Amino acid sequence: MSLLIKNGRIITATDDYVADIHVDGETIVAIGTDLAAGDAEVIDATGKYVFPGFIDPHVHIYLPFMGTYAKDNYETASKAALVGGTTTLIEMCCPSRADSPLKAFELWRSKADGLSAVDYSFHMGVTRFDESTEKELREIVSRGIPSFKIFLAYEGAFGINDEELFKTLTLAKELGVIVTAHCENAIAVAQLQSELLAAGKTGPEFHEPSRPETIETCGVQHLMTFAEVTGAHVYVVHTSCDPAVQAIQAARYRGVHAWIETVIPYLVLDKTFAEEPEFEGAKYVMSPPIRDKRNQPILWDAIRNRLISTVATDHAPFDFVAQKSMGVGDFTKIPNGIPSVEDRINLLYTHGVVTGKIDLNTFVDAGSTQAAKLFGLYPRKGAIQIGSDADLVIYDPDYTGNISQTTQQMNVDYSAFEGWEIKGRPSLVTVRGEVQVRDGQFAGTIGRGQFLARKPSHF
Ligand code: URP
Ligand code: ZN
Ligand code: ZN
Repeated sequence: MSLLIKNGRIITATDDYVADIHVDGETIVAIGTDLAAGDAEVIDATGKYVFPGFIDPHVHIYLPFMGTYAKDNYETASKAALVGGTTTLIEMCCPSRADSPLKAFELWRSKADGLSAVDYSFHMGVTRFDESTEKELREIVSRGIPSFKIFLAYEGAFGINDEELFKTLTLAKELGVIVTAHCENAIAVAQLQSELLAAGKTGPEFHEPSRPETIETCGVQHLMTFAEVTGAHVYVVHTSCDPAVQAIQAARYRGVHAWIETVIPYLVLDKTFAEEPEFEGAKYVMSPPIRDKRNQPILWDAIRNRLISTVATDHAPFDFVAQKSMGVGDFTKIPNGIPSVEDRINLLYTHGVVTGKIDLNTFVDAGSTQAAKLFGLYPRKGAIQIGSDADLVIYDPDYTGNISQTTQQMNVDYSAFEGWEIKGRPSLVTVRGEVQVRDGQFAGTIGRGQFLARKPSHF
């Protein structure tokens, strides 16, 4: 199978030029002008952008959580990812505290192997640390997973204590593993939740006050201290607010190896959405919560300055009718999460690039290249270079349309962005040289996606 993509405007994290791309088999074999077609399928990309396939480094697909399960499976999530321009997913493998990490890793893999239309990998959740889990974690790293996930939140579920945190970071440092972390002080959240409920404040609008910016920042500072003393490399997931960004920036200034992820909901939604009446606000409950609008320009600036490395989703789909409703009368029981794997890139383009908040190179850097670099996939992924995987997004900047639950691929009964206009969308998407999206529609093969074994690089 051979493709010749003609006359596209090729945008990477650093470059911007018009050229042809020749794909043979799974990889890019030539980039230049007036390349000859031979027997290749010719794709005319005149007037369109050609981006490296986007990478979402923070998704939940199989997720047992808060008494229920996230709604997507690999078929629905990977189709949704693809039509939205994402060609690689890194999923959080989140065992419960009692589980064997190795068995959990195998379970999570079994949910993806042969069923994904995009390439995929995992961050291994460390939800308990003792001699037996340490042995298994070493084995998991040797099987191609050089990134851990820890939670300084969800006490009694995924959360770990400080001794476990210290030991996890120490192991990560030894193995060259990067530790991704959900940062909120779990004890303080639990206290605030009790106080609010006792005062009769039970609706979704009280989710944000139960997990204020200062509690997220406290979690971040705690992680930064532990990273400083252990020397481990850390990546703060779903950073929602200015003080948390500042805390990480301050730690970087004193030499801590720390990177920042934000997620698309924080850039385009604010806490007033969670205040919508008739329990509609539950659609916007995630943790850390969507924040006061004043944070948005600060987050956008930090992306533009490349202080924030990645824009992910934290895709975690729970139906409004049958699942979010578990929290009617008690916001602490609303399954936390907002679905957005399908919408991330179009929203980042529409609200970031079209409005001039970020340029095209930064868009690619935050949506693809930085994730590839941080998580051991570059330059196989996140690049348009000879030898890179031919994961390519031909993006039509002239398209306009609207987001709607009725047309989405994600298996969930609402969209947090219902009716929103998007400007631009992927018209054609390839995964390792095979066309998976044509004219904006999924046209590929379930099972095309491969597990990506990665190597440690954070020594
Ligand atoms: O609300 C969220 N973020 N749900 C998914 C689980 C997590 O904390 O990442
Ligand atoms: Zn989280
Ligand atoms: Zn998450």
